[in-house]
Amino acid sequence: MSEIAAIGVFDSGVGGLSILKEIRQLLPGEDLTYLADSAYCPYGTKPVSEIRARILKVAAFLSGLGVKAIVVACNTASIAGLDQVREAYPLIPVIGVEPALKPAHGLTRNGKIGVLATSLTLKGDRFSVLVEQFGADVEVYTKPAPGLVELVEAGKLDTPETETLLHQYLDPLLEKQIDTLVLGCTHYPFLIPMIRNICGPKVTILDTGLAVAKQTVRVLEQNRILNPRPRVGEETFYTSGDPEVVNEVVAKLWSKKSVKVLKAQIEA
Ligand code: DGL
Repeated sequence: MSEIAAIGVFDSGVGGLSILKEIRQLLPGEDLTYLADSAYCPYGTKPVSEIRARILKVAAFLSGLGVKAIVVACNTASIAGLDQVREAYPLIPVIGVEPALKPAHGLTRNGKIGVLATSLTLKGDRFSVLVEQFGADVEVYTKPAPGLVELVEAGKLDTPETETLLHQYLDPLLEKQIDTLVLGCTHYPFLIPMIRNICGPKVTILDTGLAVAKQTVRVLEQNRILNPRPRVGEETFYTSGDPEVVNEVVAKLWSKKSVKVLKAQIEA
């Protein structure tokens, strides 16, 4: 695997940019190739078998570009098929993401943890294992949150519509008096200002972006494929959807005036 190749990162849409940002902070010299699988978004309301098959195609696309590692920047995709991607690409290190129940278990003071994620993530075997491991001596309250992904995809981070939906999902968790909230979907960190407003200052909000970025650094080090050249890395963005539409929201979330999103041809 070439050490000067790019790191491939993908999500169902633009949510994985919350992880890409952290990777960029820790690895300023690496080239990063990001794929938003917008044509298939959202993943979280579809059957596991469908998402598993889809992400193998997405991984094939990234592998075809010659990436040196793949970051599955999506809880839903990781829960549905991380092992299958690893099996299909044994020579490419694959890094996944899972809801931060372990750190939540360490941080909660009153033993009441809320988890906001997609339906597929909360139904997944991997999530049940996490609850068995870190939920035995605390209360874990889960809430599937359909609709939030679509709002982030539309760049609606602070609209009344977003606030109403967030209240619908967060109010029942707050009634349970959670003191720790796990954001189990990579789209949700873009809603943190509004989530913070609703939850107030006493609730600890956890997302996994930094942890995944640190794990990516560790994995590149272990495989001796960190880019050794002193340089400023570049980002290349792809979407399986309409680049015109995705351009705008990527620019907003990536905090750039404009970005160029390329069309990814991935068979349906
Ligand atoms: N960002 C994905 C995740 O972390 C969103 C899944 C979806 O497309 O529903 O779960």
